[in-house]
Amino acid sequence: MSDDPSKTANRLQDRWREAILTARLGVFDWDPGSGSVDYSPELEEAFDLPPGQGDGIEPLRRATHPEDLGLLDTTLADVSGGRRAHALVDLRLRAADGEWRWARVRARTCARLDDGTPSRIVGTVADVQEWRRGRLTARENQLRLHGIVNSAMDAIISVNDHQRITLFNRAAERMFGYAAREVLNQPLDLLIPARFQAAHHGHIEAFGRTGVPSRPMMAQRIVSALRKSGEEFPIDASISQSEVGGQRHFTVILRDVTARERTRLELEQAREDLRELAVASRTAREQENSRISRELHDELGQNLTSLKMDLAWLDAHCPPGHPRFVETLGAMRSVLDSTVAATRRIAADLRPLVLDDLGLLAALEWLATETSRRHGFKLHLSVDPQSENLAEPLASQVYRIVQESLNNAGRHAAASEVWVDLRIIGEELHLGVQDDGRGLRPADLSKKGSFGLVGIRERVYTLAGSVEILGDNGKGTAVRVRLPLPRPEAPA
Ligand SMILES: Nc1ncnc2c1ncn2[C@@H]1O[C@H](COP(=O)(O)OP(=O)(O)O)[C@@H](O)[C@H]1O
Ligand SMILES: [Mg+2]
Repeated sequence: MSDDPSKTANRLQDRWREAILTARLGVFDWDPGSGSVDYSPELEEAFDLPPGQGDGIEPLRRATHPEDLGLLDTTLADVSGGRRAHALVDLRLRAADGEWRWARVRARTCARLDDGTPSRIVGTVADVQEWRRGRLTARENQLRLHGIVNSAMDAIISVNDHQRITLFNRAAERMFGYAAREVLNQPLDLLIPARFQAAHHGHIEAFGRTGVPSRPMMAQRIVSALRKSGEEFPIDASISQSEVGGQRHFTVILRDVTARERTRLELEQAREDLRELAVASRTAREQENSRISRELHDELGQNLTSLKMDLAWLDAHCPPGHPRFVETLGAMRSVLDSTVAATRRIAADLRPLVLDDLGLLAALEWLATETSRRHGFKLHLSVDPQSENLAEPLASQVYRIVQESLNNAGRHAAASEVWVDLRIIGEELHLGVQDDGRGLRPADLSKKGSFGLVGIRERVYTLAGSVEILGDNGKGTAVRVRLPLPRPEAPA
């Protein structure tokens, strides 16, 4: 280190120059008394201040945008007049390429005369064009985002790491009944029913740990929220997390699903009502059929039997020599036989009494024999012994489904073999009717004016089961039904 004061001063000056150059600052040094201004060469270069335009403040004024000139003049007048020791203004200056650029001009009084009048004012000029453009873009983005967030139909709420609300859009205001200013910086708990708060905290924390950027909140489950009025309401929500400035934010987008939930419940109720109604009306019809069937069978059947006995007696005691008498008796017997047969058939079609008297297995065996005889196919019946004595209404419904499927196999399939399989698996009844016929086509499932398959689906639906009806071209048709078994009554 040298102790030479002039060298030390030079080094200091160098250092300042370097600093100013590095900061890309233009500098001016103004003596308001004489009006002379000394512009640094960088300033003259960067902005349109060619040397020789006069050494006063005029070159700076000339480089200033006309709209900003007033601001420059008053600012400089304030400083030179001693009213302000410091000044800072942003102005547009003409750059060397002729374009206007934003510049930040600072001025400071560094020396004064004895009466306090400034005698030296030093100023800097910094190009802040890029900085201002960046700030403008950021503000535009923010406004745009603000617009989007506020015009969203869904409520959008952000919370910080401490679960305090940092954003609350218009839809949220409408949904919750709070103005944003009432809830900003308040704990999110304000919007959550007390009994869900603990679970919700755990949920957000767990979500925070996963680091997953977004996911629906408690997938599928309806979450509840709390209005300012104290009213709870169901919401659908999805949550996402992001990190801004080292702080984690959670954003929840939520929708008030009160109306949807109400509609869903109403629909479910209506379906349930309809299902009950269908079951009740079918049960009533089966009961009515059963009563008529029994009357046909018992009353009419008995009367016909006694008529047959009387006829047999008449036949035995017919006086000889009356051929017409014998002939008429013969004709009567034949009408009577066909009447007995018709009565039995009608009664059985209405409702096979064997179903009531001997149970499902016996009824299916009878049905199998009848239909295979009528349609001429071979029938393989396999029934799980557990399902032999299925309770009503299940037994009747299973019987009807098998009856319709067998009729279809007989009428449409041209089947030679049919398999009926009934078994209990777990809590379910599995029924399959398979034929080896021509195979039903998909279009047959919605054939106009055909109600057999519709009826099967409807019966299954009212019993809360599921059904598949599949046709394989040329290889047959399968009807597969699953029905939940009624739970055994809990002991009282
Ligand atoms: N097992 C089957 N094999 C072939 N085609 C079938 C079978 N079952 C039903 N279909 C077809 O599906 C149609 C609709 O059947 P369905 O609803 O029972 O009404 P319907 O028997 O009164 O015609 C039938 O007309 C027939 O074309
Ligand atoms: Mg049919």
